Amino acid sequence: MRITVLTGAGISAESGLATFRASDGLWEQHRIEDVATPEAFARDPGLVLRFYDMRRAAAAAAQPNAAHKALARLAAHHDLTLVTQNVDDLHERAGSPRVIHMHGALNRACCAACGHRWPAPATMAVTDFCPACSRPTTRPDIVWFGEIPQHMEEIWAALQDADLFVAIGTSGNVYPAAGFAQHAGRNGADCLELNMDASSNARDFDRRILGPATRTVPDWVDSLIG
Ligand code: APR
Repeated sequence: MRITVLTGAGISAESGLATFRASDGLWEQHRIEDVATPEAFARDPGLVLRFYDMRRAAAAAAQPNAAHKALARLAAHHDLTLVTQNVDDLHERAGSPRVIHMHGALNRACCAACGHRWPAPATMAVTDFCPACSRPTTRPDIVWFGEIPQHMEEIWAALQDADLFVAIGTSGNVYPAAGFAQHAGRNGADCLELNMDASSNARDFDRRILGPATRTVPDWVDSLIG
């Protein structure tokens, strides 16, 4: 069975990483227009870099939880495409062999001039130079609001081919990810949502299991692989 899974911030919540739209979420503590747009980076790169340094340190201190580990187990038994909106590396550290980061990754830096990518240092400085083209045009390899998500061709193909699409820990507020269930469903996939609460695009799913990901995801994976 071909399975495409999309994860959001909710799968990392029980690892201690903040989600975005909860009452104590990241977008309650920081304005998106101050830290998560190209305009913000042009206006005050230091503020943006400090925001991602803080998130990079939190992600490095966090541990993968039972939900991340269950998806790694699933990959050993089914044709699984794992797409994440998250920028932490908890899926990789849980052992998932292939993780498609559509919103980029905290542990990568990139060059705005030549597109080169390299492992990000723990803290990034505005004066960092690109190791490939030597220009001072480095930035976090994060997809900001208004920018085009990464790997979309591969993701649309995986949604097209999926027999089962599963969204885990995402509120369904941000496109194109919020449209994935509808797209997969139109192409014949069964759509399942594993979340703490019903998402904004709940109508696009055939089934829903509500509860903490560290319980619902291992239970679901065990139901598939025993
Ligand atoms: N188990 C399962 N689900 C959970 C848990 C948990 N322990 N804790 C929270 N959730 C659910 C919430 O109910 C919510 O629906 O996770 C979802 C988190 O929603 P958001 O905070 O909106 O995060 P996400 O959907 O990943 O945001 C998508 O928006 O701001 C951008 O780029 C950012 O990738 C992010 C995108």
